[in-house]
Amino acid sequence: MENSNISRRRMVGLLGALPVAGVVGAVTSKAEMLQAGARTVTPPQTEGPFYPRTKPADIDNNLILMGEGIERATGEQLELLGRVVDRHGNHISGAKVEIWHCDHLGVYHHVRLDDTQDEHFQGYGETRCDGEGKYRFLTVQPGLYPGRTRHIHFKVFAEGHRTLTSQLYFEQDMKANLRDGIYQGLTSAEKKAVTMQVNPVNDGKGRSGFFEIVVA
Ligand SMILES: [Fe+2]
Repeated sequence: MENSNISRRRMVGLLGALPVAGVVGAVTSKAEMLQAGARTVTPPQTEGPFYPRTKPADIDNNLILMGEGIERATGEQLELLGRVVDRHGNHISGAKVEIWHCDHLGVYHHVRLDDTQDEHFQGYGETRCDGEGKYRFLTVQPGLYPGRTRHIHFKVFAEGHRTLTSQLYFEQDMKANLRDGIYQGLTSAEKKAVTMQVNPVNDGKGRSGFFEIVVA
């Protein structure tokens, strides 16, 4: 499938700009923090009612194509790159990452809510981190639905670590994020840990962002 052939160059570039956030234990100064590679553990957040009751037939990491279909999901393409690490910054190979979010119209696909949903959008996808703890999804920017800021739900299963269920937010939506009841409940370090910056990609196909997930 298309997703297995996508270039890794962009991820390598983004890894170079990886932010380090948070303070753990006795590590206090920024220099010490960088040296120790300390990370703020990604805060758990509510799973919400839209985790798939039944996994769709197509559960790969390309959410913009359904199965062998050729028609793509509508919406601005989003390449979600990232890495799963522990609180010391050690990558976790083989961790399973799941994401689910609404389509560009703000409709979740775990149940057919109405006929207006984008039938070409997969709604849910999963992947495993490679030998460097890296993962990749190809999807669209989630739409909006009443009462929430834009977000992507995710779950991470990493051997020897607590299963993490949380949500990812977008830095460009910060005004709306700060009005969001769930986002508001986080400390500023936690907000930073679940907020991703996205940038236009060179080939003009939408945007790309890098999101590090830190498991406890
Ligand atoms: Fe949601």
